[in-house]
Amino acid sequence: MKIRPARSFRGTFKMPGDKSITHRAFLFGALAHGVTTIEGASDGDDCASTRRCLTALGFRFEGSAPSSLLTVRGGAPLSPPAASLDCGNSGTTLRLLMGVLAPSTFESELAGDESLNRRPMERVAEPLRRMGAHIETAGGLPPVRVRGATLHGAAVTPVAASAQIKSAILLAALGAFGKTVVHEPVPTRDHTERMIRLFGGRIQTTGSEISLDGPQRLTGTRVMIPGDPSSAAPFVVATLISPDSEVTIEDVLLNPHRVRYLDILREMGADIETTITSAADAEPAGRIVARSSALRGVTIAPRDVPAVVDELPILAVAGAMAQGCLEVRGAAELRVKESDRIASMVEGLSAMGARIDELEDGFRVSGGRPLKGAPVRSHGDHRIAMALSVAALAARGDTEVAEAEAVSISLPGFFSELERGAGR
Ligand code: S3P
Repeated sequence: MKIRPARSFRGTFKMPGDKSITHRAFLFGALAHGVTTIEGASDGDDCASTRRCLTALGFRFEGSAPSSLLTVRGGAPLSPPAASLDCGNSGTTLRLLMGVLAPSTFESELAGDESLNRRPMERVAEPLRRMGAHIETAGGLPPVRVRGATLHGAAVTPVAASAQIKSAILLAALGAFGKTVVHEPVPTRDHTERMIRLFGGRIQTTGSEISLDGPQRLTGTRVMIPGDPSSAAPFVVATLISPDSEVTIEDVLLNPHRVRYLDILREMGADIETTITSAADAEPAGRIVARSSALRGVTIAPRDVPAVVDELPILAVAGAMAQGCLEVRGAAELRVKESDRIASMVEGLSAMGARIDELEDGFRVSGGRPLKGAPVRSHGDHRIAMALSVAALAARGDTEVAEAEAVSISLPGFFSELERGAGR
C-alpha cells in the first residue's frame, strides 16, 4: 500500500466495535443460557475467528458484523468439533478458548496461522492445569490439545500481566467447582470481569485479587459494544503530529484500562479532550477530540505497559515526532505479539530516518529528525501496518507499506478512513 504525505488530518470518525469486548460478547453469548443480542460487533478478522470456532462448537450466530444486530442462543453443551479449531491470527481466540474448553467433555485441538503458532501458550496451560485441566502444548506452542476434565478452583498468579491469561482462568473458573482467585500484581483490562457481571454472574475484585465461585450459570442478555479505542489511536496520533488538524472520534470505549495512551499523550503535551457520554453495560463510552500539538518525549513506566500494550507502536511514532526522547522499558511482552513489535518498529522507523534504539525490553526513540518516505514492512502485524502508515503521513515522499492487508485483523476500513482524514 502506498501512503502519500498529508498536509493536515481532519474529520469525525467512528470506529467499529471494540475487539476485546466483541470476542468476549461472542464467547459469553454462547456460554450463557437463552438469547444474547450483540450490537456493534467488530468486523475484523480476529473476532471472525472467535465466531468461526464457536460455530464449529455448535453455536449459530445470526446477523453480520458490524452494523446489524447479531443474535446467538447459548447455554447448550459444546459439541465436539469435527476438526482442529482454526484461531487464525488471534491470540485472544486461542487463549480464551483454552479456558472455555478445559471443563468440556471431549478432546479438541486449537491452532492458528504461522504467527499465532509461534506464540507462547504454556502461560495459559500451566495455571489451567493447576485447576485440573488436561492440556498439552507443542513445546509451549500451538497446536494446543485440550482434553475436557472436571476442574476445581485454585489460587493463581499469572506469569505475565496479561488479560488473556486472566480471562482464560476466569472462563475455566465459571465451569470449575469451588473458588478461584487470580492475583494480579499489575492490573490488566477488565472486560471479562465486567461481562461476567453483565451476564448475571458473581465475581469480586478486591485490591489485586479477583475471585469467583464456580460453577455458575450465566443468562443471555443484550450487549452494546462501543468503538475500539486501540483502532482510534492511529487517527489521534495522525492528528497530533499534523499541522492545522483536529479530529473527533464518536462513541468510543473510554474504559480507563484502555485509554491510558491518551494520558501518556497528554503528558507529552497533546491537546486531547475526552467526554463520557454513556456507561451502557458498565463500559464507559464517549467522545475523543484531538488537535495538532507540539509533543515532547516522556518515559513510560513499566507499570503502565499492560494498559498501553497495543498502542506502543503508535506511541513510538508520536515519539519520533516529539522533542526529546520517548523511552519504554518493561515491555518485553511486545516481542511475543503478532510480530516482535520492538524489532518491527525499530526496523520501520529507522528505515524512515528516525533515531530509535532497540532495547531488550523496549525502545528509545528521539524526535526532531524529519521522516522520509521509504519501503517498510508490517511483518503481517496490523498494529505495525497502521503505525507506519501514520508515520508516512508526516514523512517527506511516499512510503510503501508491505503486507498492509494485515489491518483487516482489527480494522478492515483503516486505509479508506486514513485517506478520508488526510488533507493534501
Ligand atoms: C487482549 C489482551 C492483550 C492485547 C490483545 C487483546 C484481550 O494481550 O494485546 O490484543 O482481549 O484480552 P495480553 O493479555 O497478552 O496482554
